[in-house]
Amino acid sequence: MQRFEGRVAVITGGGSGIGLATARRLASEGAKVVVADVDAASGKAAADEVGGEFIATDVTDEAQVEALFQTTVDRFGSLDVAFNNAGISPPEDDSILTTGIDAWRKVQEVNLTSVYLCCKYAIPHMQRQGKGAIVNTASFVAVMGAATSQISYTASKGGVLSMTRELGVQFAREGIRVNALCPGPVNTPLLQELFAKDPERAARRLVHVPMGRFAEPTEIAAAVAFLASDDASFITASQFLVDGGISGAYVTPI
Ligand SMILES: NC(=O)c1ccc[n+]([C@@H]2O[C@H](COP(=O)([O-])OP(=O)(O)OC[C@H]3O[C@@H](n4cnc5c(N)ncnc54)[C@H](O)[C@@H]3O)[C@@H](O)[C@H]2O)c1
Repeated sequence: MQRFEGRVAVITGGGSGIGLATARRLASEGAKVVVADVDAASGKAAADEVGGEFIATDVTDEAQVEALFQTTVDRFGSLDVAFNNAGISPPEDDSILTTGIDAWRKVQEVNLTSVYLCCKYAIPHMQRQGKGAIVNTASFVAVMGAATSQISYTASKGGVLSMTRELGVQFAREGIRVNALCPGPVNTPLLQELFAKDPERAARRLVHVPMGRFAEPTEIAAAVAFLASDDASFITASQFLVDGGISGAYVTPI
């Protein structure tokens, strides 16, 4: 499939994990990929690997985000896909009882304010073109609660989900689709490290996944490629769960 032939895609957090897998997937389907990441080494490596372009960007910085989309359009002629995906999940963000205001604010900035900025500066380019697809990375925690809390993370993803829904509605008649991707737990280095340290916590989480395993980044990338492509032409303002059945489960198979 070459669903992105002649199209330009910006991927924030494209240097690692879900963003990297998506850069590979979209490039393999013909997209010109712009990798935006605060980590220059991994971001540049990802862009080089997929024959794309790296633009060093801190997604919490308004001027840098504005420049990211303007530079993309100046250099490559259009902005067809914006995958607003960069996010963090630091250990200081925990129960509301122990999470300080600085940790709370940092996560809100990187996970939620960044998506506001990316949409704010991507949409005008898409309005001029009369088309475009935005995929914002939320999480399954935007629709479910956990007793093992990461309070600011969960609240930030809830914000991403509601903002996405509203933008999808507002710009639907201008040819711009805006959808929220809600991944379940993904097999990334961060999660592997966490669970190697605490196998009991890993087992406790896995029991809630009907499929009995975490997602591979390529499985999430496949969903992003679908949402960003014309195959999803009637899908907007949606919460798109790719979670191995977690959000549908009451009891899981043994
Ligand atoms: N891994 C999971 O289990 C999981 C589950 C649901 C949702 N998510 C979400 O998916 C997204 C990607 O997660 P991942 O697991 O691939 O993480 P990751 O840590 O592998 O990759 C995140 C990337 O974002 C970049 N980044 C961080 N802060 C940035 C900033 N201020 N500006 C620009 N880039 C920045 C990092 O350098 C990194 O390359 C995040 O929004 C995360 O919350 C992840």
